[in-house]
Amino acid sequence: MSLSLSPAEAGKFAAARRSVDFVEDGMRLGLGTGSTAAWMVRCLAKRARDEQLDLLCVPTSEATERLARALGLTVTTLDEAGHLDLTIDGADEFDPSFNLIKGGGGAHLREKIVAAASQEMLVITDPSKDVAALGAFPLPIEVLRFGLASTRSQIEAVLAEEPVAKREIRLRGGNDPLVTDEGNFIIDAHLGRIDDPEALAVALNKIPGVVENGLFLGMCRTIVIGREDGSVETRTQDGSKITD
Ligand code: 5RP
Repeated sequence: MSLSLSPAEAGKFAAARRSVDFVEDGMRLGLGTGSTAAWMVRCLAKRARDEQLDLLCVPTSEATERLARALGLTVTTLDEAGHLDLTIDGADEFDPSFNLIKGGGGAHLREKIVAAASQEMLVITDPSKDVAALGAFPLPIEVLRFGLASTRSQIEAVLAEEPVAKREIRLRGGNDPLVTDEGNFIIDAHLGRIDDPEALAVALNKIPGVVENGLFLGMCRTIVIGREDGSVETRTQDGSKITD
């Protein structure tokens, strides 16, 4: 692929291109959502075409499904595929323990279901997402439309009890709310810093109107970080680091 990319896109592309090296013939794959994942889908489709790979792909959003189908990848549902070998997805933030915030693209519900059904989750990202503690990026919380005001109040009550730096919540899209692929709304929680992601994730998911939060805890073991100069760093949770 010969491309002229902005520095930010060049990093995403570098990570995406490297991530498809992890794909093997015959795999069942989860395809993430977002701009980095879209690069991965393009690179994957090229590799599948060039090497005649037999792959079965489960997209995590309607947008990814459209792209994957348009590029000739074989797409199926998670129910049809059953267990997946590998999911490759982007992230909005990752911390030193490989915990993530996802859902900036509004797809974290399907993304979490697909990642949970996968043997491995590989995250592709750029250095801007690397944080010491999660929370500068607003935490997406997918909620049912029914009883929205009540769910909002209960989220505020949970946040009042949790160790976070600030507690401001906003319905994504405001007066014209974004509707997710599953027909729900998203509340973005501006928290500044999340000191106890595990406790927060559990407390939020106990609220009946909350469908799923964007904290991905203990799900990812490998992170591929692409830089604008085209170099790539691959970190694994056991502490290994390869840069090339
Ligand atoms: C979508 C996501 C994305 O992976 C996340 O928002 C990163 O997106 P991008 O690669 O465009 O920066 O979680 O719900």
